[in-house]
Amino acid sequence: MKIVVIGGTGLIGSKLVKRLQAKGHDAIAASPASGVNTMTGEGLAQVLEGAQVVVDLANSPSFEDKAVLEFFQTSGRNLMSAEAAAGVRHHLALSVVGTERLLESGYLRAKMAQETIIRESGIPYTIVHSTQFFEFMFGIAQSGADGGKVHLSPAMMQPIFSDDVADALVDFVLGSPLNKTVEIAGPDVIRIADAVGQYLRQIGDTRDIVVDSQTRYFGALLENNSLVPSPGARLGKLPFSEWVKTATPPPAH
Ligand SMILES: NC(=O)c1ccc[n+]([C@@H]2O[C@H](COP(=O)([O-])OP(=O)(O)OC[C@H]3O[C@@H](n4cnc5c(N)ncnc54)[C@H](OP(=O)(O)O)[C@@H]3O)[C@@H](O)[C@H]2O)c1
Repeated sequence: MKIVVIGGTGLIGSKLVKRLQAKGHDAIAASPASGVNTMTGEGLAQVLEGAQVVVDLANSPSFEDKAVLEFFQTSGRNLMSAEAAAGVRHHLALSVVGTERLLESGYLRAKMAQETIIRESGIPYTIVHSTQFFEFMFGIAQSGADGGKVHLSPAMMQPIFSDDVADALVDFVLGSPLNKTVEIAGPDVIRIADAVGQYLRQIGDTRDIVVDSQTRYFGALLENNSLVPSPGARLGKLPFSEWVKTATPPPAH
């Protein structure tokens, strides 16, 4: 089956493409690096020719409110109209657990806009809501960085390993469109401040951690369980406590 993975060079995209190819599918990693740009529409019609399934795993280069909204709206519209023209039968996208309750966040408003475009497109779809990837801990730390301190929320999270995300996506990609949102998460619930704190200590980052319930998560004030999925979410296997023991700094650090 021809499966186009938009953002197929990214963290999750590259793992998904490998897994689908290993199962014998014609999985194609599409991104600006391979001449496919969802913002401009460049290369979209060509790459989608003959594709049955499209998985959108692209992310915005900027998380600034206006830029990220423009990224997900423009990319979403360009992609869905190119898919309609190509006769794509299943569109999948990865979004964030709790998006609908955290619309104070500019990033999550943009993800909500992406989801709305998908739901209104008329193309059969599956939206997978994931919790935070283990690999995103540094990103969360940087969002609360203030000189030598890192401000973090005491709210709970249930982060997931990127391999477990990719494994779940394989099943959803090879299944029928669900025309709804499904949730995936890691096996354990942990405080954001504890998870990020453990990660920073592991990579030798000695900044002070300030736990403060008024600290916003990418613009949104969190309730204790805002980032935690509903019962019934599909759970990954690797515990955060195992992963963090061998975690390394992000590549550009
Ligand atoms: N981080 C988290 O904890 C988390 C949690 C839940 C859901 N998500 C969602 O998961 C998705 C994947 O995240 P990720 O961390 O795997 O992303 P990532 O590693 O940052 O990769 C982003 C991908 O998007 C591609 N891209 C950027 N601009 C593009 C454009 N104009 N047209 C086409 N492709 C473009 C990049 O291509 P190049 O390599 O060519 O630049 C890259 O392949 C995102 O949609 C995110 O919202 C993330």
